This record gives sequence, C-alpha cells and structure tokens, in this order.
Amino acid sequence: MSTKRVLVTGGLGFIGSHTVVALQNEGFEVVIIDNLSNSSIDVLGGITQITGKTPEFENIDLREKAAVKNFFDKYPDIEDVIHFAASKAVGESVTNPLLYYENNLSTLVYLLHELNKKENSKFIFSSSCTVYGQADNLPITENAPVKKAESPYGNTKQIGEEIIQDTCKVNKSFKAISLRYFNPVGAHPTAEIGELPIGTPQNLIPFITQTAIGKRKELSVFGDDYPTKDGTAVRDYIHVMDLAEAHVHALKRLMNANEKDNYEVFNLGTGKGNSVLEVINSFEKVSGEKLPYKIVGRREGDITAAYADTTKANKELKWEANRSLDEALKSAWKWQLVVKKAEEEEN
Ligand code: UD1
Repeated sequence: MSTKRVLVTGGLGFIGSHTVVALQNEGFEVVIIDNLSNSSIDVLGGITQITGKTPEFENIDLREKAAVKNFFDKYPDIEDVIHFAASKAVGESVTNPLLYYENNLSTLVYLLHELNKKENSKFIFSSSCTVYGQADNLPITENAPVKKAESPYGNTKQIGEEIIQDTCKVNKSFKAISLRYFNPVGAHPTAEIGELPIGTPQNLIPFITQTAIGKRKELSVFGDDYPTKDGTAVRDYIHVMDLAEAHVHALKRLMNANEKDNYEVFNLGTGKGNSVLEVINSFEKVSGEKLPYKIVGRREGDITAAYADTTKANKELKWEANRSLDEALKSAWKWQLVVKKAEEEEN
C-alpha cells in the first residue's frame, strides 16, 4: 500500500469525488483542491462515509496564481496531480468563452508551472471524446484525428492537451496522461456521492432521473432522424466508478513508467454504443418508473454516434469498464432518490 499524497483538483465534483474514493480504496492519501463553484462541501462527508477517511481539503481558486504557488509551498511532497477542476457546460462556454479559457486554461498553466519546478512530477488531465467531433470511423481509436472544436469548452480540452504535450516535450522528467472520457454516468453504489447538476441539467441521465422524480415535466429526445439503429443518437455511457478506477490505473502507470513517451492519451469508454431510446428503456426497467418523453428536433452541435475503441486503455492501463448500463442507471436513480429526500428535509 502506498501512502503517497496525490492532489486531486476538482475533487468534490462528479468524476473527481468518485476518483478520490477509488484512490483512497487503493491506499493513496488525497489532498483535494476545490473552489466549490460547482460542488458542495457535503461531498467531503459522502467520501468519508464510503472510505472511512476524510481527505485533506483546500478551498482554493486555481485562477489565483499566487494561491497555487502557496499550495505547493505548503505541501512540498506532492508531485502527482489529477486535474479535474474545470467548467464543463457547453452552452455556457459559447455565451461566456473567456470564463472558459480562464477557468480551464489559466489554471492548467499555473499548475504545470509549479509542477515544472519539481524533479519527477506526474499529471493526469481530464479530457473528452469531444476532441474527435463526429469521427469518421467507429469505434474511435486514439489515432482518430482531432477535429475543430464546436464550442469554447471543447476547444479548452484540445488546447489543454496541447499545452501539456508541449510541456512534456521540453521537460522529459515530467510525465502526463490525457484521458478522453466518453459519457460518464451513474453514482457510487452507496448513493453517498453522485452527480449534482446546478439548475436544469444539460446531460441526458440527470435530466432523465429528475424527470422520473417529478422535478421536470418530460424529457425531450433530441432527434430521431439520425442514421442509427432507432434514429436516436448513440453514445458510450461509462459508469463513473469504472472511469474513476481508470485514473488509479493511469496514475500507477505514470509512477512505474519506463515508457519512451512521457505523454500519452487514452480513450475511456465501454466500447459499446447505446441510443437515447435504449437508455430510456434501460432506465425504465431498472427503476420501475415510466419516463414521460417526447421527440423534438436535433440539438445544435450534437453528433450522430460516438463510442470508444478501448483496446489501448485495456492493454496499457490494464483496465476495463465492467459495469453495465443497467447498473449505472440503477445507481443514478438511487442517488436521485437520496437527493430528493435531502431536498425535502431542507425545506
Ligand atoms: C455533452 C457535451 C460534451 C461533453 C459531455 C460531458 C454537448 C453538445 N456535448 O456530450 O461536449 O464532453 O456532455 O458529459 O453538449 N439528449 C437528449 N435530451 C436531453 C439531453 C441529451 O435527447 O435532454 C441526448 C443528446 O442529444 C445526446 C445524448 O442524449 O445524443 C447524450 O447527451 P449528453 O448527456 O448531453 O452528452 P453529449 O451530448 O454526448
């Protein structure tokens, strides 16, 4: 068991919090930085409930360069960073691009700047399959070309990857991995932590669970005229715990790395594509709820289909996603029931 301290930025967010659990389960000591801009301090309690251990927590805004430096002065032993902290709403990034470039890129530069001062630092970056746009070939391998981003959000992921890659070129002792996530869904099976969207959810699963619980009238299915099996768009929905565990595997790879390349990219998905209607069917089956929905026009910027070729991640990271879509949706529903109860108790 290792007792190395790992910094997890955005560690109270959706994927971050599940990754903190996965790290602690593997014996890592975790320090979280989060500015609570899109998360709740209560998540710290949820993590503690699951693992029996409270991670160290620093409320720091990574846009403050001096605060980033102060953090590494305070924790001089930290040389491993998993960087989740970022803004992720596609629509908001279109209306407020500078917020996204500052939040997602300045913060990255400040972190890398500090890590560059160290001998042997390692870095894992939250990237997205959005970098591929509509790929010409499915499943999508890591060699598929990166296409021009559809939104400032997507652009920050592409530029973020380039910033890291350029840093790796000049600093050979610095090792980094970009993880391109497909569609993370679900919650920890205990329902102590899960996804906490602020306002109206833009992503499919939280919209489904909020509709089923009565918070939204009905789900709009964006388009049934795609060239897919049932006309609705296809995505690779990966259980957030599978995704979280992939980060532990990636970190171990960096720690043991004797690779020629100090920069690598991996797709993280299940390798399977499911349509929106298949997701609805699976949700109705596992929840026993009837989901009200209507078919509407396509959402601007949406692609037809995306699912991962998982060969590289399976082989090199010695990892695979093994939780099913049913399991993911079941955990998302259980989480929604817990959230509702908590909301009722508050009112
Ligand atoms: C979206 C983002 C992507 C980001 C990812 C993070 C867009 C265009 N893309 O991906 O950049 O990395 O989230 O998880 O926003 N759907 C409905 N009704 C809804 C919501 C969604 O039919 O109310 C459909 C969508 O059209 C899509 C599928 O469900 O086919 C999944 O949507 P979503 O969860 O938003 O993920 P992506 O669009 O794949």
